[in-house]
Amino acid sequence: MALLTILEYPDEHLRTVAQPVTDFGDQLQTLIDDMFETMYAAPGIGLAGAQVDQHLQLFVLDVSEHQNDPRVYINPVWEALDDERKQMQEGCLSIPEYYAEVPRALRIKVSALDRHGKPFEHEADGLLAHCIQHETDHTKGVLFIDYLSPLKRERVKKKMLKRHKASV
Ligand code: NI
Repeated sequence: MALLTILEYPDEHLRTVAQPVTDFGDQLQTLIDDMFETMYAAPGIGLAGAQVDQHLQLFVLDVSEHQNDPRVYINPVWEALDDERKQMQEGCLSIPEYYAEVPRALRIKVSALDRHGKPFEHEADGLLAHCIQHETDHTKGVLFIDYLSPLKRERVKKKMLKRHKASV
């Protein structure tokens, strides 16, 4: 397995709209393993293909307390089960050290394929529901800061550019 480089905002590649996964061969299996390793090492609770410059509709996540519940979602689609929204503080491995409250559907149903292409669906709420929505956004080139005011987003951008300059 290998650690992958995580793209950081405002890298334009994060805005790429991902393609559906059609090939479930070795290359995909390696990518998924590497994404898990990269996510756990970061450490983070979710990582989408776009974040490692692989523009396929997939993400991995693990919201369990002891990080022992790895899940893969491929070609995911979710729908809200009701109108209730919940604000929750979000962060993103592509926007390090920045957190903001984002409103998302509280209860959802998600349908996806597993790493071998087998369909599954389940309902989710709370942190898992939030995370699935955040990661699915990545497959569309959407970031959680897109839900903030333009002013706030501009501040995040400045902060990130400064951070990148400092690390060069
Ligand atoms: Ni993210």
